[in-house]
Amino acid sequence: MGTDHGYFPTWMASHGYKGNIIASDINASPLQKAMETAREAGVEDKIRFQLCDGLDSCPPDLVDTIVIAGMGGELICRILDRAEWCMSKRYKLILQPMTKSEVLRYWLVNNEFEISSEDLILEGGTIYQLLVARFGGITKLSDAELFIGKKELCMDPELYSMQRKKYIKRFEAAIAGMEESSSGSLSPVLGLYREILAQLKEMN
Ligand SMILES: C[S@@+](CC[C@H](N)C(=O)[O-])C[C@H]1O[C@@H](n2cnc3c(N)ncnc32)[C@H](O)[C@@H]1O
Repeated sequence: MGTDHGYFPTWMASHGYKGNIIASDINASPLQKAMETAREAGVEDKIRFQLCDGLDSCPPDLVDTIVIAGMGGELICRILDRAEWCMSKRYKLILQPMTKSEVLRYWLVNNEFEISSEDLILEGGTIYQLLVARFGGITKLSDAELFIGKKELCMDPELYSMQRKKYIKRFEAAIAGMEESSSGSLSPVLGLYREILAQLKEMN
């Protein structure tokens, strides 16, 4: 979903995946690019291309795994919110939020999705977060874990530690900025940020 250049569905089709592969996008020009990528790899006939918003035209009985990568956490939530059929144990969600992963984790745990594993990928100095979730389970997360996930679920402890340090710096900077500002309206947020910072520092 949101396939853009279509590298992922093309990779799957080229590497022998035999199930249904649907590549969809809300915009015509990325979908066209995806078709070209698949055509160049000689697998165009193995992929179904769909122009649609989110999962609106996705046939629920033809899929068991949904990949939503490379978009903001809030947009991923909106897309999942509109596709109530995803709330079934049948579907595995592989999600890669570029921003606001805390909003996405909050949405998942409050809509009875279990986050079964997480991975981190370091590329070009940026750490990318990847979540695997399925409806019908419980994942309890602290406020700090909403931002960086649960350590026990993360497949790369070294990158997890790097990410934790990055978030500690981010919260320290945000808190320093708020402390300098004279606005009293920031104080509830400041309290919450201090609490999250303390939790991040306690995690090892
Ligand atoms: C940054 S690209 C990500 C491409 C690819 N998934 C990846 O991770 O490399 C985001 C793509 O999502 C598409 N997109 C944005 N909003 C969408 C929506 N509501 N439904 C479907 N596709 C959407 C955009 O058109 C764009 O092609």
